[in-house]
Amino acid sequence: MGDITILGIESSCDETAASVVKNGRQVLSNVISSQIDIHTLYGGVVPEIASRKHLERINQVVKEALNQAGVGPEELDAVGVTYGPGLVGPLLIGVSFAKAYAYGIGRPIIGVNHIEGHICANFIQYRELEPPFMCLVVSGGHTHLLEVLDYGKYDILGVTRDDAAGEAFDKVARAIGLGYPGGPKIDKASEEGDPEAIAFPRAHVAAGEYDFSFSGLKSAVLNYLNSMEMKGEEVVTADVAASFQQAVVDVLTGNAMAAAEAHGAKRFALAGGVASNGALRRAFKEECSARGIEFFYPEPVLCTDNGAMIASAAYFEYLKGNFSGLELNAVPGLGL
Ligand code: KG4
Ligand code: ZN
Repeated sequence: MGDITILGIESSCDETAASVVKNGRQVLSNVISSQIDIHTLYGGVVPEIASRKHLERINQVVKEALNQAGVGPEELDAVGVTYGPGLVGPLLIGVSFAKAYAYGIGRPIIGVNHIEGHICANFIQYRELEPPFMCLVVSGGHTHLLEVLDYGKYDILGVTRDDAAGEAFDKVARAIGLGYPGGPKIDKASEEGDPEAIAFPRAHVAAGEYDFSFSGLKSAVLNYLNSMEMKGEEVVTADVAASFQQAVVDVLTGNAMAAAEAHGAKRFALAGGVASNGALRRAFKEECSARGIEFFYPEPVLCTDNGAMIASAAYFEYLKGNFSGLELNAVPGLGL
């Protein structure tokens, strides 16, 4: 088979993104139009506004992706698009656009699971990486600890029982006045803080060995802030940020390494927006190396929502002949 060139489209949350990827791993263009500046005004993503912005921008973003790649529509072999999980309005813009576009150029459409896309970012970053390996997907909406058995084949070992890791970052950032998006701001503020200043809890879920829970930690931070206010004591934001971040990192790393040991994992990959976190990367690097596990993590532009990871996931479906029809619809609650 010759080269396979796929256009990947992503619009599940607040990034309108399109990318052209060759053979699932070679990025020819990766255009991301972020709405962060708009949603910052409201302290979080407003779904209706996100939908409108996707609609305004998607044409231009796709055109730009093709231009930058130097690829004409007739050179595309397929169009991949995120159809879930995510916000229904934003997803519908991407899915509708992709269906019309694919129909227009006479190419197949491939519906992609957003979480699967995040995992595939590792195939782009590391062109030699192949399953099996273990992966922790940590994003604004998801926390999945899983084994990648083969392309598109996963064994889920642990999930969050309440908030996703990124969601916890965003909520705590709001509480300590850092604003949206919380992850990068807590990451930055933590550099000036002491991660051992405040002893926040490390939650372990009794029943699900590798499951996560972050709502107790979030409450502990809120209680701490309240009690400091009642005592009239000054809160050191950097210390709260660093101590909270350390608690999240400890729980993520702890569960991941326990699962890696139990399954004899030789390779471990991070994925999703939170995988950009400096403390998380450092902890994984150290813990993996102590166990002789090879560690993989995508560069920040591949961790955040992007079209390249969607095109990559679509490629592996293409090889299997898994095409979607024009009846493809958005599935906001899509599981892995
Ligand atoms: O994967 P992503 O871009 O979108 C979703 O699929 O949700 O992840 C966004 C999440 C947000 O919660 C954001 O606060 C978090 O990733 N995030 C981070 C960092 N950069 C982004 N969390 C911690 N540290 C970071 N450096
Ligand atoms: Zn995402």
